[in-house]
Amino acid sequence: MMNTNQALIVADSECIAMCTRAPYFPIVAGSAKGVIVTDVEGKDYIDMISSACVLNTGYNHDVVLRAVKAQLDNYIHFSNDYFYTSPQITLAKELIKITPGDFAKKVIFGFSGSDAIDSAIKIARAYTGRSKIVSFVGAYHGSTYGAISISAIDLNMKRKMGPFLPEVYHLDFPNISEIKDDETEAAFSHRKFADFKRAFDSYLPPEEVAAIFIEPIAGDLGLIAFPQTYLNLLREFCDSHGILLAVDEIQQGFGRTGKWFSIEHFDIVPDLVVMGKAMASGFPMSAVVGKSEYLDAIGMPGQLFTLQGNAVCASAALATIEIIRQEHLLARAIEVGSYIQARFKAVAQSVKSIRKIRGLGLSIGVEVWDEAGAVKASDIAKKICYRCYQKGLILIYIGGNTLRVQPPLIIGDDEIKNAMDIIESVFIEYARGEIADSILEKIKGW
Ligand SMILES: Cc1ncc(COP(=O)(O)O)c(C=O)c1O
Repeated sequence: MMNTNQALIVADSECIAMCTRAPYFPIVAGSAKGVIVTDVEGKDYIDMISSACVLNTGYNHDVVLRAVKAQLDNYIHFSNDYFYTSPQITLAKELIKITPGDFAKKVIFGFSGSDAIDSAIKIARAYTGRSKIVSFVGAYHGSTYGAISISAIDLNMKRKMGPFLPEVYHLDFPNISEIKDDETEAAFSHRKFADFKRAFDSYLPPEEVAAIFIEPIAGDLGLIAFPQTYLNLLREFCDSHGILLAVDEIQQGFGRTGKWFSIEHFDIVPDLVVMGKAMASGFPMSAVVGKSEYLDAIGMPGQLFTLQGNAVCASAALATIEIIRQEHLLARAIEVGSYIQARFKAVAQSVKSIRKIRGLGLSIGVEVWDEAGAVKASDIAKKICYRCYQKGLILIYIGGNTLRVQPPLIIGDDEIKNAMDIIESVFIEYARGEIADSILEKIKGW
């Protein structure tokens, strides 16, 4: 006899297309509050991935609930196509304040990170009058046609759906893990940037490039940051060729790394900032923010969506900004992030399966491996994650071998200690050979 959880998952498989998910664990949400999700059977899970970096303020924060309820009582929606709403205007002003760059800016709202990426592609093409777009191998920018065209991380995001947006070029990502033993970060960056420039010397005329898209920290590749020197070179290159530098902050933005946007860690002012996921604490909302002259290059009504800037979603986004400010969540992300990294370093002293710990604020990647190469890193990651799930903690892996540690920024001291105790106990079980191979058949993931 199936329980409710299992029955719902079977029903899901019968009516929801498989391409809309990379399933990790059979959890069906019943309710959620703060950092805890309770499934339909009543089992609690500590969510260490913030529902894919959406719940930076935790589930159902009271301030979000109050703002949304007030707006629901007022009105749900008023046509953005022809008229105006005040939550949208107030939100745009706030986004202009919190994004880098001291110049006149404007905003285009959307619903998911992907469509905001499409907005950015259109803006860059319209403003520059150029067609070519550059992004990096390993990037995940989303699933609408524009966003999927500039992504390069999974063949199933390319198979059977082409042709894609023309004039898109994917260049080599400067993955710092490829640094040579005797090489400095600067030398590595210059070497990789010389490779990058070769494209522009041989087949990619820079004066025809509208924009270069980057994830300052390549999230789904394994939370790997661009090297600082490389980004400086990239900014200079864009400036000298009139190319817009567009940053995808959909995963790392809205406070996750301890700054509003991760690019601020690199002291680089981008031309376009693309955001989504956490900005409205779970309500569908995304945006591109950039110089007014860039965004105004698209004529009316070239990027209009009927429900754009919806008043309820905008109210949730305003509440999200208020919470991040009032609860000092940027500083908190740094504080809790340091604690988590210290705990993982301590675990790494006693077990051999942790290879690298990296990250900024509450966006931490923990790379696992078997030094002797006898066990696949992805199998280790699967075992760790599945056992965590069994013990009531949601943790997933990305890039095959990297645990994605991205808890809500509101996580309390006791909650994070409890979560790290569970993760540590699982690493110890793994080291003792106590996690059965049969688990590997149960977890698919991405
Ligand atoms: C870096 C990055 N860009 C873009 C997207 C696409 O956003 P969405 O799924 O909201 O369309 C994601 C989603 O995971 C992401 O992590």
